[in-house]
Amino acid sequence: MREAFTYTQNSQINVVFNQKKEKSAALPFPIDEKVSHAPLEKMEKALNRLVGMSEVKKMVKELYAWLYVYRKREEAQLKVGKQSFHMLFKGNPGTGKTTVARLLSDLFREMEILPKGQLIEAERADLVGEYIGQTAQKTRDLVKKALGGVLFIDEAYSLSRGGEKDFGKEAVDTLVKQMEDHNTEFILVLAGYSDEMDDFLQMNPGLPSRFPMIFSFPDFSGDELLQISGQMMEEREYRMTTEARKRLSRHLHQKVIDHDAHFSNGRYVRNLIEKTIRRQAVRLVREGAFDRDSLLTIRTCDLALDDERFPLNADEAFSTI
Ligand SMILES: Nc1ncnc2c1ncn2[C@@H]1O[C@H](COP(=O)(O)OP(=O)(O)O)[C@@H](O)[C@H]1O
Ligand SMILES: [Mg+2]
Repeated sequence: MREAFTYTQNSQINVVFNQKKEKSAALPFPIDEKVSHAPLEKMEKALNRLVGMSEVKKMVKELYAWLYVYRKREEAQLKVGKQSFHMLFKGNPGTGKTTVARLLSDLFREMEILPKGQLIEAERADLVGEYIGQTAQKTRDLVKKALGGVLFIDEAYSLSRGGEKDFGKEAVDTLVKQMEDHNTEFILVLAGYSDEMDDFLQMNPGLPSRFPMIFSFPDFSGDELLQISGQMMEEREYRMTTEARKRLSRHLHQKVIDHDAHFSNGRYVRNLIEKTIRRQAVRLVREGAFDRDSLLTIRTCDLALDDERFPLNADEAFSTI
C-alpha cells in the first residue's frame, strides 16, 4: 500500500503526526478561536479551490500546526533544533505539484520561516553544465537564487539518468553539500514520477534522510477532472451546456480508463479548456453571434476533444466574414 504521505525513517522531526488515512480534509486539531491563524485561513481558501487531493490538504494543515508550534516553542525559548523542511513530491505530470509548492512557499513566508518565500523552478538543464566544473557552479548559483525561498527541482530523477560519468551526479553532490551549508536557509523540493523518484533516492543513499516530508500526488479521477474543467470554465466566465458537460464527462472518464502513460491530468484539462475557448471563438465569428449568452456558452461542438475532428476550421470561418 502506498501511503499518501510518509516520514522517512531517519526523520529529524520529533513531532509524530497521526498517519491514519482519512477521507476528510478537516483539520486534525480543533482550532482555538482566540488564536489568530491568519496564514492558515489564507491557505485554506487556496486549498479549497483545489479539487480532490484530500491527503495533500491534510498534510499541509499538519505542516501548518508543526510550523506554528515551532514558532511558539521558539517564543517560549524551548528547544526547537535546527529544523529543515526539505520535501519530496511524488506524482505524475499535472497532478498539482507546482501549484502546491507555490502555496507552501507563501505559507513559509507568512509564517516567517523563510524570509522571502520566492519559488525558483528548475529542471536538469538549469543545474547540469556541459563541461567539467560548470555543473557545480550552476548548481551553487541556483541555490544562491533560492536562498530565503523554495528551490523546486522538477523531474529530479533525471539528474542520475546518465550514470557515473554524467554531470548530473555532480549536481546531486553539489546539492547535498549546499543542503549542509545552507540547511535551514532554503527549502529544497524534489519532484517527479513516483517510481523514478524511488529509484533516484536509492541511487543516492545520502539523500532520503535529508527529506523529512514526502507528499504523494495521485492521479485525478474522471469526476475530479470534470470538476477541474468546470472550475476552469467558471474562472474564465464560460459555462457548458448540459450536453457539452455530458460529452466532456464521457471523454475525461475514458481518458482515465485509457491510462496513457503521458496523460497530464490537470494540465491536459487546462489545455483542453483553452483550446475549446478558441474553437468557440471561431464558431461565434462564423455565426456572427455575440450576445451575452452566446459569448458565455460552450457547446458540444466547441469541445476540443482530440479524438474528434473539429467540424470547422478558422479559415472556413473567416472566409465567410
Ligand atoms: N487539485 C487541483 N484542482 C484544480 N486545478 C488543479 C489541481 N491540480 C492541478 N491543477 C491545475 O492543473 C494544471 C497543472 O498543475 P501543476 O501544479 O502545474 O502540476 P504539476 O506541477 O504536478 O505538473 C494547472 O493549471 C493547475 O492549476
Ligand atoms: Mg510542475
